[in-house]
Amino acid sequence: MTDSKNIETTTAHRAIGVDIGTGFISCAEEEKGEVVFRKIRDAFFKLNPSKFLEGSANQFGEAMLKNSGAYYVKVDGTLHVLGDDAFKFANLFHQECLRPMSKGVLNPKQPVSNIMVSELVKAVAGQARSPDDVLYYCVPAEPIDADFDIEYHKQILSGVFSELGYQNINVMTEGLAVVYSELADNMYTGIGMSFGAGMCNIVYAFMGIPVFAFSLSKGGDWIDSHAAKHTDETNNVVTALKEKADFSLSDATNGIQRAISIYYESLLNYVVDQFKELYENTPKKKLPNVQQEMPIVVSGGTSLVGGFIDRLTELTSQDFPVPISEVKHAREPLFAVANGLYHAAKISTDIGDGK
Ligand SMILES: Nc1ncnc2c1ncn2[C@@H]1O[C@H](COP(=O)(O)OP(=O)(O)OP(=O)(O)O)[C@@H](O)[C@H]1O
Ligand SMILES: [Mg+2]
Repeated sequence: MTDSKNIETTTAHRAIGVDIGTGFISCAEEEKGEVVFRKIRDAFFKLNPSKFLEGSANQFGEAMLKNSGAYYVKVDGTLHVLGDDAFKFANLFHQECLRPMSKGVLNPKQPVSNIMVSELVKAVAGQARSPDDVLYYCVPAEPIDADFDIEYHKQILSGVFSELGYQNINVMTEGLAVVYSELADNMYTGIGMSFGAGMCNIVYAFMGIPVFAFSLSKGGDWIDSHAAKHTDETNNVVTALKEKADFSLSDATNGIQRAISIYYESLLNYVVDQFKELYENTPKKKLPNVQQEMPIVVSGGTSLVGGFIDRLTELTSQDFPVPISEVKHAREPLFAVANGLYHAAKISTDIGDGK
């Protein structure tokens, strides 16, 4: 039901990082000396029995779900298929999946969002095993282009983890998690960027402390929906083309590819411009007084498209307020946030263990 992957390491205590994204929920923790990653699609599908059968359809639907091994929950008598299985069932009935999250936070238009996220988190992270478990989860930094604050989202998620038995629950912004994942060798100093489905999250960190952090409520979903509108295609067609391994921003040939490239160009310029503006508006006393070059480290599914790093390198090579040594991808762009959250939890357990 969940995808997983391993990286080597060692520890004594349980430390766990959970990245609750608009597209995926991922977690990282250590098992048998290795960091293990698991992820599940942050989606669900309401099985409406009247769509495919009359009468005793609900019982039939439940039996069918059980037989297929699908992951589901029943809320007020309605069956909800969760995670990757939701896509299979949505396709079967020619419908769209529902998302518990929208633009980086819980979707207020879906009243069952909280229950769905709780079930999905349970699937990847499981229950707490001991009161000493240390858990870190991420939230977006305050958005600078949208009218919502992340407090509600943060509190609901904290409640979800409490219900799963976690007691030592900590929160970190998504961009800083990327810095914790990738920039240990650089004293956690540099710029972390996460380009997701619903948002872009950016942090400028010095010695592990954010100088400033922000989020923008545009990401892969925004590229898909706008490129789809301009080419009269469905979002699904655009997403599939964008995610194809051979697609590159510098080599867009057909109309849909050109539309995708145009929105990528707009997104990248937007991120770089917002960084410059925030830097200029930050009081000099709050900016680190250093001239050293530092890296930009990039994560998230939206950054996986061909030519992304090259274009960001070009845009930050001139008139950028911080001297940049290099722009590079995280080692595991889809798991860097979960990995950084795990590392933050691990540092905290090591301190607790007196290491
Ligand atoms: N190979 C690829 N090329 C381009 N885009 C991709 C690729 N693979 C995934 N994506 C896009 O990446 C996005 C998902 O990325 P990610 O898993 O980092 O987001 P998220 O963490 O769930 O969302 P957010 O951080 O915004 O809440 C989707 O928009 C998806 O279409
Ligand atoms: Mg993300």
